[in-house]
Amino acid sequence: MKITKKNQFRPEADAGIVIPVFRGMDLAALWREFPELEHPARLRRIKGEIGEALACHSIEQRRLFLLVGAGRPAHAPDARKLACKAMALLRQYRVGKALIYFTTPGPYPPEYLHGLVDYLHLNNYRFERYKKKKSRPVYRVQLVFRKRAALPPGDIRSREVVLREVEWVRDLVNEIPARANPDAMVEAFGAAARARGLKLDVWRRKELEANAMNGLLSVGASSCCEPALLALHYEPRTFGRTVALVGKGITFDSGGLNLKPGSYMEDMKCDMAGAAAVLGAVNAAAALGLPVKIIGLAALAENLPGRRAYKPGDIITFANKKTVEIVNTDAEGRLVLADALIVAARSKPDMIIELSTLTGAVVTALGDSYAGLMCRSKKLSAGLLRAGAASGELLWELPLPAEYRESIVSKVADLKNAGYNGASPIKAGLFLNEFTGKVPFAHVDIAGTAFLSKPNFCLAAEGATGFGVRLLVEFLRELVK
Ligand code: BES
Ligand code: MN
Ligand code: ZN
Repeated sequence: MKITKKNQFRPEADAGIVIPVFRGMDLAALWREFPELEHPARLRRIKGEIGEALACHSIEQRRLFLLVGAGRPAHAPDARKLACKAMALLRQYRVGKALIYFTTPGPYPPEYLHGLVDYLHLNNYRFERYKKKKSRPVYRVQLVFRKRAALPPGDIRSREVVLREVEWVRDLVNEIPARANPDAMVEAFGAAARARGLKLDVWRRKELEANAMNGLLSVGASSCCEPALLALHYEPRTFGRTVALVGKGITFDSGGLNLKPGSYMEDMKCDMAGAAAVLGAVNAAAALGLPVKIIGLAALAENLPGRRAYKPGDIITFANKKTVEIVNTDAEGRLVLADALIVAARSKPDMIIELSTLTGAVVTALGDSYAGLMCRSKKLSAGLLRAGAASGELLWELPLPAEYRESIVSKVADLKNAGYNGASPIKAGLFLNEFTGKVPFAHVDIAGTAFLSKPNFCLAAEGATGFGVRLLVEFLRELVK
């Protein structure tokens, strides 16, 4: 979808017209400008609240007008919801071309416009690879402002670059597990790296064994595909900081021998969303040419039961010599991540940010619109929280108290992977923290936000959201500003 900005209201003949109605807006003025719209009494039914909408057909102009409740003009969260509603309506009415006319002078701060553009793109996405009958996307949107709005065309373009990576991530996460096994993911990530001219290191069984990557080897033991550790490198000519990004890439999480009950397994193709998001973020940072060195690590494995499967009672020795008792094979994410975190810490970055669909309890606690952030570095967590608020990929901080560490200690090994008795997102964070050395470390649990079972207030489609790409790009951009 192409988004452009114009300063004059000159709609193309077949474009649908969206008019955001802000709270307290003078609707009489709107009616004076568009007398063909409707009787003002009907117009009055829209008050400007988010979620309201009124569709009017102008017979003379053979045109669809959509009046959409828009809340407050200077409030970025309202821009996201407006974009979501407007895009849902445009698609519902099968409008391919649209013009969004902001009749209220504003001001519209940059983060408002940024949210608007992002969420128009995000809500124009559907995963329909396996449907014969595809829905109709919007392919062109013009934004028209009465007064000049602070959104340079270069910004719209750079959002397009980022949103293309988000779409790539959503397609990968939505892909069916039969076609998204570790071999296929290595192939897909490899093709993307080649296309973008980035260096990708691929460790399969041989290299994993040579480097004692025993978390990946154990979790992936029963899959038909070997596990893999991928390292995607972006190194610009000049950079001040080095950031390691780590993602959980369980291509399918059946639970292993601790098999998940039916309904819990339904969406488990989404368990590689962290890996896809971090590699998508590296791709986006490279496409934008951000002056920061990034290493993106993806820990890929498929967690299945079977003859070779790892078992409760097993003890795994990690490359940093720590041992872990397996209590539950469904707590597999932290095991593959431990390998990747050890490798990340060895590369001596300034910080490690790790994204994973790690715990069911974070979904219970925070739902589908806030990811859980756990981080002991005040500076790093503050930067991530700011990036979350700015991008709309919201974070809520949970503590990592040392007092809880004793619950992750095992009687027969240094640590155990489950059986923690409460606060499982936090204790999983404490577990991961054991593998990061002294590097400032942030853990983001995206189990609730990466994949929607139903639409929410700013995303109109279920399935993969691409959560994390825009968050990380925003964070990296501010980091090197
Ligand atoms: N991949 C799941 C977590 C998950 C749940 C992601 C719901 C997305 C939606 C993870 O591997 C898992 O199974 N976690 C268990 C750990 C438990 C067995 C200690 C959990 O949180 O229930
Ligand atoms: Mn699991
Ligand atoms: Zn999992």
